Amino acid sequence: MFVRNAWYVAAWADEVSGKPLARRICNEPGVLYRDTAGKAAALIDMCCHRGAPLHMGQVVEQGLECGYHGLIFGTDGACVRIPGQDRIPERTRVRAFPLVEMDGFLWIWPGDAEKADPASIVRYPWHNDTQNWPNKHTMYPIKASAMLMVDNLMDLTHLGYVHGSTIGGNPAIHVEAKMETTRTAMGLKFTRWMLNSVPPPTYTRAAKFEGRIDRAQMFEFIAPCSIHQLSAADDAGAYANGLTERSKIQFRLFHGLTPETDTTCHYFWSTANGFRPEDPATTEQLFNEIAGAFLEDKAIVEGQQAMLTERGETDLVDIVSDATRLHMRRTVERLIAEGSQSLAAE
Ligand code: FES
Ligand SMILES: [Fe+2]
Repeated sequence: MFVRNAWYVAAWADEVSGKPLARRICNEPGVLYRDTAGKAAALIDMCCHRGAPLHMGQVVEQGLECGYHGLIFGTDGACVRIPGQDRIPERTRVRAFPLVEMDGFLWIWPGDAEKADPASIVRYPWHNDTQNWPNKHTMYPIKASAMLMVDNLMDLTHLGYVHGSTIGGNPAIHVEAKMETTRTAMGLKFTRWMLNSVPPPTYTRAAKFEGRIDRAQMFEFIAPCSIHQLSAADDAGAYANGLTERSKIQFRLFHGLTPETDTTCHYFWSTANGFRPEDPATTEQLFNEIAGAFLEDKAIVEGQQAMLTERGETDLVDIVSDATRLHMRRTVERLIAEGSQSLAAE
């Protein structure tokens, strides 16, 4: 089950060119492409003539041409040309999904097109502020459900175990982190404070800390698929009165988990360097460190999905650290139950 009436990241804007790209979203086979004017579009990946996948065709002056018998479709899905035939019957069309290009993303609405309101897309302005937040992005295909990946980000007690040698550090620091959680209409926000703690290996490499550090992680989950993260660290004592304007380490992460099928998803993520923005090597290093850490998440969560698929979820036990994750799940379940009507309204 998915929240269908919602905006999801379909692709990074720079992934889609004049060459059609097949991408399944919420179990719908889609094809993404840009027309010759550069406008991005998403159509169902199945020609209405004989069912050939449209991603096997090509972009021509008039639109997307099917690779089988040459029917051409516009970005609205309407057929504009049938070879050898002048009359184009009204129902010669394929489904077009609402698609909006913004902040470096292509956002898709897999639900009822008439309910799609671009004003409800959650903005991520840091992608456009390359001077103060130079950033880099990619997508990982994940053999696990989007919800298991969101679970992973809502329970960070895994950091010390899954990421001990990278971004995590000592497990006890994460289990004992002080959590401040706030509920929002579309999910929740939480901050984890790890004051006077031992820096993890990546932080020591990046900022040459000599002693203990104050460390904070701020997360916002916005249903159904976005997580905005700000991580910061400075010398111990720096956050006695909360986060400071500028820290020795500060970076932002965007996480977008778009369901592909019930048990697979697309993980769109970016890193933005807010502590040494003038230094491209830092931007690169931050990306590379996180890229390695997220492969650790991918491995454990894919293993978890394989087990859950084989054995089912019925005998699992929740513990204290599941509280945030459970609130996230309830928000998503409520939206599914409401047909996600409230999404646009809120
Ligand atoms: S299947 Fe597409 S033109 Fe025939
Ligand atoms: Fe992780």
